[in-house]
Amino acid sequence: MNILLLGSGGREHALAWKLAQSPRLEKLYAAPGNPGIAEHAELVELDAADHGAVAAFCAEKAIGLVVIGPEAPLVDGLADSLRAAGVPVFGPSRLAAQLEGSKGFTKDLCQRAGIPTAGYVRARSEAEALAALADFSLPVVIKADGLAAGKGVVIAMSEQEARDAVSNMFSGGFGEAGAEVVIEEFLTGEEASFFALTDGKTVLPFGSAQDHKRVGDGDTGPNTGGMGAYSPAPVLTPRLEQQAMELIVRPTVTAMAQEGMPYVGVLYAGLMLTPQGPKLIEYNARFGDPECQVLMMRLDEDLMPLLLATAEGRLAEHGAVKLSPDTALTVVMAAKGYPGTPDKGGAIGSVTEAEKYGAKVFHAGTALKDGQLVAAGGRVLNVTGKGGNVTQAQAAAYGAVRAIDFPTGFCRSDIGWREVAREAKA
Ligand code: AMP
Ligand code: GLY
Repeated sequence: MNILLLGSGGREHALAWKLAQSPRLEKLYAAPGNPGIAEHAELVELDAADHGAVAAFCAEKAIGLVVIGPEAPLVDGLADSLRAAGVPVFGPSRLAAQLEGSKGFTKDLCQRAGIPTAGYVRARSEAEALAALADFSLPVVIKADGLAAGKGVVIAMSEQEARDAVSNMFSGGFGEAGAEVVIEEFLTGEEASFFALTDGKTVLPFGSAQDHKRVGDGDTGPNTGGMGAYSPAPVLTPRLEQQAMELIVRPTVTAMAQEGMPYVGVLYAGLMLTPQGPKLIEYNARFGDPECQVLMMRLDEDLMPLLLATAEGRLAEHGAVKLSPDTALTVVMAAKGYPGTPDKGGAIGSVTEAEKYGAKVFHAGTALKDGQLVAAGGRVLNVTGKGGNVTQAQAAAYGAVRAIDFPTGFCRSDIGWREVAREAKA
């Protein structure tokens, strides 16, 4: 079967790497891809916003499955257009992708379905939002409703900060995403991510992970798309995972189907493990980046039939997803300046040497310039190691990081620190 993969980051390189191992794959195309993805796929120029062009490409190349990596094309309804053209798609419809595209939509759904989440108010004007603040204690969480590349969340420690955040959102600080805001109760606990595949009916757990959103060691500095991750996240114990499935993920899938917008794809639940049990912080309508990289390293079966069964509504035929009990840990090497303005164009060397010791280096923002691999984005490489626990996986990943020659890059030196500290005590 021929597959088209959309996206250009480390997440998509990990998906391409895994799909390319499938004996059932005939040809993989990727758009726009990156030099790492190009090792497994033919890169094609296709604008994901031009649904007609993507559908025409699928017809011309006899594409049997389209895998949509990032959220923007999902929220934009690309999956609907392709399904209308008869092409199986891994990824939710426009309406189902509202679970990521509108925080207010998700909060209302949680309320209707009795799903545990932080108390909230939706506000469509600045005056409404300012008035609502009075009902919340500090700290209070202010969120732009729409997609804001992970930046639309402010945890306000003072009333002034909360009012400033509200004003900033309504005066266009986050563009269209901030035309509506959600004000939320602040939850305490440790965060963990949980993934599940669903075809709209059957739900299969796809593992857990923890990521590191802040740019600096010790979780300091500004938020990023993620500086590293590991899977599994032992803090999400089997009991907590079952609670997350039964109280959060399954009721969501059921409610979405009942309300006429069945969710098809991977559902990524950001959870807060509170003293009262897991509560939903947010949903994403796609694999996490870099969480996907560690999940793919652990996947002990062919990815292609899983994605196809999801797309074709046949997940019930599939048994539990086989994940290695090993831990995978990925360290993001970013270009200096990230998450501000990254220093682009810096040379990268010795990637092959770094892989000699069993690590896998996924490409995110890389490009080839006159045959030389260079940095072409904020997050550049995802150096991924495996081991029997987080401490061992961390050692494998950083061993490979040290072998890479990337003078204009940097990375955190403590990915996995929470779990490494717990393992040292155990
Ligand atoms: P989100 O984009 O919704 O995942 O929010 C980004 C980050 O803000 C989360 O990963 C949490 O660390 C934090 N956050 C969001 N909502 C809450 C909340 N209600 N209570 C505490 N922290 C939160
Ligand atoms: N690493 C966080 C995300 O993909 O949203």
